[in-house]
Amino acid sequence: MTTIGLVVFGLVSLLALMSLLPPLAARLRLPYSVLLAVVGFILGAVVSLRPDQVIPSPMLHDIFDALGSVEISSEAFILIFLPTLLFEVALAIDVRRLIDDIAPVLTMAVVAVVICALTVGVALATASPFGLVACLLLGSIVATTDPAAVVGIFREVGVPKRLTTLVEGESLLNDAAAIALFTLLLEMQLSGGEGSIGGTIFRFLESFGGGALAGLILARAACALFPFLGGWPRAEITLTIALAYLSFVVPEHYFHVSGVVSCVTAGLVLGSTGKTRMSAHTFEQMEAVWSQLGFWANSLIFLLAAMFVPRIMEGTSLTEIGFILLVFLATLAARAITVFALLPLLTRAGLMQRINNRIKTVIVWGGLRGAVSLALALAVIENAAVPAPVRDFIATSVTGFVLMTLFINGITLRPLVNFFRLNRLNPVARGVRDRAKLMTLTDVAGELNDIARTEGVDREIADAALSGLEARLGVARARSHRGVELMADEMVKVGLTVAAAFEVERCFALLNGRIVDRRIAEMLLREAQHVREAVRASGRKGYIAAAERGLGFNPGIRFALWLQRRLRIERPLADALADRFEFLMMQRRVLSGLVPFSRDRLQPLIGEEAAAEIIGLTARRIEAVERSLLALKLQYPAYAAALQRQYLGRIARQRESAAYESLAANLVVSGEVERELKAELEQHWTGLDERCKLDPELSAVDLVGRVPIFRDLDIKRQQAIAHLLTPQLVLPDSVIVRRGEKGDAMYFVASGAVRVVVEPSVELGSGEFFGELALLTGHPRNADVVALGYCKLLALKARDFQRLLAQDAGLKARIEQVAQERLNVGERLSFG
Ligand code: CMP
Repeated sequence: MTTIGLVVFGLVSLLALMSLLPPLAARLRLPYSVLLAVVGFILGAVVSLRPDQVIPSPMLHDIFDALGSVEISSEAFILIFLPTLLFEVALAIDVRRLIDDIAPVLTMAVVAVVICALTVGVALATASPFGLVACLLLGSIVATTDPAAVVGIFREVGVPKRLTTLVEGESLLNDAAAIALFTLLLEMQLSGGEGSIGGTIFRFLESFGGGALAGLILARAACALFPFLGGWPRAEITLTIALAYLSFVVPEHYFHVSGVVSCVTAGLVLGSTGKTRMSAHTFEQMEAVWSQLGFWANSLIFLLAAMFVPRIMEGTSLTEIGFILLVFLATLAARAITVFALLPLLTRAGLMQRINNRIKTVIVWGGLRGAVSLALALAVIENAAVPAPVRDFIATSVTGFVLMTLFINGITLRPLVNFFRLNRLNPVARGVRDRAKLMTLTDVAGELNDIARTEGVDREIADAALSGLEARLGVARARSHRGVELMADEMVKVGLTVAAAFEVERCFALLNGRIVDRRIAEMLLREAQHVREAVRASGRKGYIAAAERGLGFNPGIRFALWLQRRLRIERPLADALADRFEFLMMQRRVLSGLVPFSRDRLQPLIGEEAAAEIIGLTARRIEAVERSLLALKLQYPAYAAALQRQYLGRIARQRESAAYESLAANLVVSGEVERELKAELEQHWTGLDERCKLDPELSAVDLVGRVPIFRDLDIKRQQAIAHLLTPQLVLPDSVIVRRGEKGDAMYFVASGAVRVVVEPSVELGSGEFFGELALLTGHPRNADVVALGYCKLLALKARDFQRLLAQDAGLKARIEQVAQERLNVGERLSFG
């Protein structure tokens, strides 16, 4: 066979072998990576023995030749496998959670890498003759952890998701940090140990930060391209693969910053923003493609590296075994320092939740090392510039150490988890489980009964089947009543968590049905995710607070108001208002689905009382949203109408399109007919996705015409007055004038209403004015004036006030008369 033929043959033989391993690992209850290492190790030993020379068979001969020829160089590993490995993990991480826990994750990742490299480095440097830099280099190689084993067990055991994210995030960033450190130390080793510590740290930070920035920019660029590739899932997925590799190569090669960090960042950004840029279906497909690629990369690299092991470990001396043990102990100590000493500090600083000691022990013990460590060691071995004794030292120590973690920690991790009883569900989870079972068994029993009756199954046979179910139902019933009352609060929290997840789902459904466009969907999602996180962190209280915060005005809208008021730039305000309008409308739709969901789906799980509480909370949220919506609608009825028209149109389009899809799926119409029907549908609704424009209606001339004291003036005069007035919009509940402040302007209410906070309070509506007293008397403002809803005001500055009054005696008299009346009321108040 030719060389390429052999490589292909070798690779596919490995793939065939790999396909058998995941089920085998599950059956043996071993972490997959441990089994891979065992199989690779055995394969390596067998290949080096060349059994084909004993049993002459051309095919066997080719197989062993082939397996011998798929050796992997460290460069191939780094350029081919590493981007995939990193990108795949990064893509799957929940970035919001990662950001919430960024302090512990970064501590675990960056600080832990430094602690590990130092502990191992110093320990080995005192015990071996190889010098500090070489020992630190080794320390950085063994600082990368492979989370697969721990994460796998955490998932099965159902530890809080936050902890899983912590371990996943840690190992991801820690690979990045360790590789960046490794690269620098290798440079130092090659330059003969030159370079200052300060310089090294600076280079490390530069490389890390630069890499992160590069990854962010590239991923953002890719995300901006997705809308153009919409409807071509294969093209979109291809772009993600290009992104993984480009984000790795370009920064590293052309900008000399960390490609690893860049690749990880790009994966994180794509995983979080990609969801709203691609259709849900494409995103799922992409995840599937990446998980497949990740599986291949991880398995191949492990097998290939493990095949190397017998050769490296051949003739290992006792001293070398001593080094391996030392590395093992030093890394364990380093990890224990991080987890037991550093994390509690973070907890005390309020940066992370408390973790109990059993889980901490599992995290320390679960620090398995894997493919990345082996490959980095390989990079040193292949580097001819590194002195041979150092190469051997690193090769045997790292390989031996990785094997130890796999065989000792990997195999004993699960027994440890069992020993600590971490695999027992907590009482609330048990409660939910029992109720889920009860609900399901009740449904199944009912259905069996129906089928037996309608399809004439013998009564005896049906009864026999039902009695088995009944027995289980009895147990489930007894269990599900136990201790539920005690947990009502917890049940509300469980229910709210599920409800919040449902909210996120509804947002995606709206996006996919093209009922909302991406911008609004992103706002809705952000809000839904905030609520979800808040529930997780502080239950019912968190839910209420987050929901309230979600309806507040964001800094964006305040900035837009400022732009309009100060610089008369209107566009951002119009857009911000339009977005808020649409957001509230869609929010109402999302929330309205929550009530039936809680009643039909949550109630059987969490009980009537808890479900009623959730329904009550949801109703309160809906009310608040409706209030906010009404306030906007009162001010902008024309826009509200346009939005409603668009909304109904989009629903009609989605329903029609779904109906055609279902007809095609049920084979009633052919794919071709479906396409034609859909094309016609799209044509009918062209323009439906265009953004409705909101006119903030803040033209001074128009507003002046609405104020009675100006209305009867001729148009020329109105225009002259308009010139002196500044139109502005104020948000509901904002304080326009504050008691005690110096007055610099007065205001005419062109539309909306305000409340003057005096005793009893006075409401002023369209056409009335306020803020004149301070200008007339020179005294400070005598009351707070608060907007009752959205109000359009015309502000008249102090200096223009004098000018206007001088020009118009009628106006002057009118304002002074009103002011006098108000002052009298005030005096009556202050004297009475
Ligand atoms: P100024 O004192 O500049 O700021 C607060 C404003 O509230 C004040 O001007 C009046 O315009 C208004 N105000 C004060 N008291 C009353 C009142 N009793 N009735 C109506 N408006 C009032």
